[in-house]
Amino acid sequence: MCGIFAYSWRRKDADSILLHGLERLEYRGYDSAGITVGNDAHVVETFKAVGKVSALVKEVSKKRPSDAFYQFGIAHTRWATHGGVTVENTHPHSDVENRLFLVHNGIVENHSDLAERLSSAGVSFYGQTDSEVVAKLIGKETAARLRTGSPDSLLEGVEAVLPRLEGAYALVIMHADLPGELIGVKYGSPLVFGRDTKTGDSFFASDVQALAGYADQVTFLDDGDLVRIKPDGTYEIRSEGFLVSRPFERVETEHLKTEKGNFEHFMLKEIFEQPKIMKAVFQGRVDFEHLALNAAAFQDLRDIDIERVKFIACWTSYHAGWAGAYAFREYAGMSATVEIASEFLNSPVRVDPKILYVFVSQSGETADAIEPLKFIKEHGGKTFGIVNVVGSSISRLTDFGLFTRAGTEVGVASTKAFTAQLAVVTLLALFYAIKRGEDFRKYRSALNDLAKLPEVLQSVLSSSGEIAEVAKELAKRPHLFFLWRGSMLPIAAEAALKFKEITYLHAQSMPLGELKHGTLALIEESCPSVVFLPDDALFAQNQSSISEIQARWGKVLAISAKPVQNADWNLVLPSAPGLTFAFAATVAGQLLAYHAALELGREIDRPRNLAKSVTVK
Ligand code: M6R
Repeated sequence: MCGIFAYSWRRKDADSILLHGLERLEYRGYDSAGITVGNDAHVVETFKAVGKVSALVKEVSKKRPSDAFYQFGIAHTRWATHGGVTVENTHPHSDVENRLFLVHNGIVENHSDLAERLSSAGVSFYGQTDSEVVAKLIGKETAARLRTGSPDSLLEGVEAVLPRLEGAYALVIMHADLPGELIGVKYGSPLVFGRDTKTGDSFFASDVQALAGYADQVTFLDDGDLVRIKPDGTYEIRSEGFLVSRPFERVETEHLKTEKGNFEHFMLKEIFEQPKIMKAVFQGRVDFEHLALNAAAFQDLRDIDIERVKFIACWTSYHAGWAGAYAFREYAGMSATVEIASEFLNSPVRVDPKILYVFVSQSGETADAIEPLKFIKEHGGKTFGIVNVVGSSISRLTDFGLFTRAGTEVGVASTKAFTAQLAVVTLLALFYAIKRGEDFRKYRSALNDLAKLPEVLQSVLSSSGEIAEVAKELAKRPHLFFLWRGSMLPIAAEAALKFKEITYLHAQSMPLGELKHGTLALIEESCPSVVFLPDDALFAQNQSSISEIQARWGKVLAISAKPVQNADWNLVLPSAPGLTFAFAATVAGQLLAYHAALELGREIDRPRNLAKSVTVK
């Protein structure tokens, strides 16, 4: 999704800093990129390119005068929402005089009305974006104030326009005639303000990861915050027109560790990190020696009184929520459901104080999840966050939470963050199992299984070559099914999503029992199925469903806990007992998707049309 990076003021290579910042934001997914840079001689230049940041880098080196220097600027990677993927629609956008420039993340919903009013006042537009409309508006207001000589022209110009905007936005704005000054505004879309306390340089970014190594202190802005960086390098933060102070945090250098190492893709690296991540998830939360949860890690939840649980999340994280709902029913004997975040407010909602609303999100910035979260909070609901990115909006908005500790995930297709989510939702369910005095033996046996997870996942990873062979076969077919019974539902759904996301082949997850109620009509040799078979009471039933598929010439890959005699291909995960099978099968599904996508030559880490963090509704 769109990315913002901005810099001001002591260095003379702002263009290189901005381009590097954009490279760090590339993983979010985008279609075009651009920068505007300026200096104290009131010179400004804008460079834009459709495609990768590398195309923008070439554009800058081609057109930048060799003796130029730039001291401040704004940069953006655009993921098209309004208007096609064109140079004109690429940010930064400018006002009519080409003196004011801005970058924008989010969507201004009333942009058509605003544009109409500007048009009737004689303003014309070069593109189709809502962001350009905002640039024209702020430019007009600022220009009027500059004519009066106001030293606060840009601030006043911005403040005059903000109340007219409806929707969500993070904006960073600069003006050619106000060198060094930058204004950053956050409302509904993430924006981080960073400082290098040694040099006094200032930065904005949509993602804290981009600031590592540049800023040593950052603050995650709240909705309604406006930061003004003044030409002398000082700054002020305002909210609703008043000066406010915000806490600053150190930037963790962990954010810099996003190299692929010896792996061909980030996705593969992240899949292989999972055994280590399982250990991190359990660290300090589980005492495996005594098969017990560490009460201190769940302290916040001890005294809150709830009867039911509702998970709310988007796709992969939704699948983790689904697994969480199963775990709550299985271990804690509680009623638990899962809801698609983007649909949550599309039907009447009654916020219930007896429900714990659990938001699951890797990025913590998913707009579709933030909206229901805010709604539930406004209506007095108790909210819990299971989030990977520390400092992200969902982690800050929820009342309580547990981080997933998966580390930075770069691949657009979520892998390690998902298994970490699975582990955390399971721990949460086990906490309620013990709190409610449920079956103690089941609880201990689950913890005993979890203790084996790092080892179990390692053994699946060692089958990567075997999985690659089957993946090559599956990649030859345009459609496939991922079939399940019982608790394998979220695992199969996630495997199908992963497959679609990076192979661009059609994959559908569905209950085995429902095949004969319609979908069996699609089964033929060119439509294979992947069936998940844990070693449970449904094993025999699952095996006979495989025969039903084969009777229609459909080929079957069985991912199973013990050998399946009638499968065409069988990936047996013998060392994955009980609860661990779901995790092991997840990793197998990730590797299957990865190797099929590799076979098809797809752009695995940045699949077409997708973004890592979906910050618009
Ligand atoms: O950051 P979130 O977990 O809130 O993101 C939710 C979905 O956008 C995300 O899981 C998406 O489905 C992944 N690309 C799947 O791999």
